[in-house]
Amino acid sequence: MNIILLAPPAAGKGTQSLKIVSKYGLTHISTGDLLRESLKRHDELSDQIREVMNRGALVSDEIILRLIEDVMSSTEHGIIFDGFPRNLNQAKKYEELLTKLGQSIDLVLYLEISKEEAEKRIVGRRTCSNCGKVYNTMIEREKPLHEETCDVCETALTHREDDNVSVFRLRYETYMNETEPLIHFYEEKGLLKRIDASLESEEVFHSIVEVMDSLI
Ligand code: AP5
Repeated sequence: MNIILLAPPAAGKGTQSLKIVSKYGLTHISTGDLLRESLKRHDELSDQIREVMNRGALVSDEIILRLIEDVMSSTEHGIIFDGFPRNLNQAKKYEELLTKLGQSIDLVLYLEISKEEAEKRIVGRRTCSNCGKVYNTMIEREKPLHEETCDVCETALTHREDDNVSVFRLRYETYMNETEPLIHFYEEKGLLKRIDASLESEEVFHSIVEVMDSLI
């Protein structure tokens, strides 16, 4: 099963992806995580990528599509894409790639949330650099048991460079201009399912399970 998670920044794509992976065994690919991994190289290209991410814009389609081709050629199971595609060009190129591989998109989950609600989730976000689990130090139900340490693997939690309100607002604007048109694109293809992402994360997951189980 190939799934796309489509949503504004901080809607809960990463949080829900981990839950989906543990229930359905899909491979989770986050283009944001792949890009953050590439920043560790500290070369000219990573400097360019960091600059783009820190002003809330989209990294070039050429770089993203190269990353996607690499991961797809080495992944046999179904994939859940988190943060890809992010514009119409990426969506069309992804379809072409899937057609070449004899595959298709099964489901696009659109996590609906208001800008105000998403903005509240940004500042307290912490991520485990080892297992990827996402927390929020400012939302009671999403807090780690011990401050700044992962509950699962006890690794120190990290704070993202782009997690502040001013960059969030730029990321949101980019989302509205570039990514939001994909809602209509996938709705017309009959692939889009809307999920209320403003609820508590277990309730959001419950809605996702209902949709996914109806397709299996
Ligand atoms: P990316 O890493 O994809 O960031 P994003 O889209 O802004 O999404 P986030 O990771 O911020 O949020 P999320 O929806 O995963 O929420 P999370 O589960 O963490 O991209 C970063 C940058 O990389 C982009 O700006 C761009 O520059 C570049 N990029 C990436 N992909 C690209 C592409 N395809 N093309 C071009 N450029 C690309 O949750 C957020 C917080 O809320 C957490 O603290 C969590 O604990 C909490 N939370 C989650 N769910 C709930 C809930 N239900 N209730 C309460 N709190 C919750």
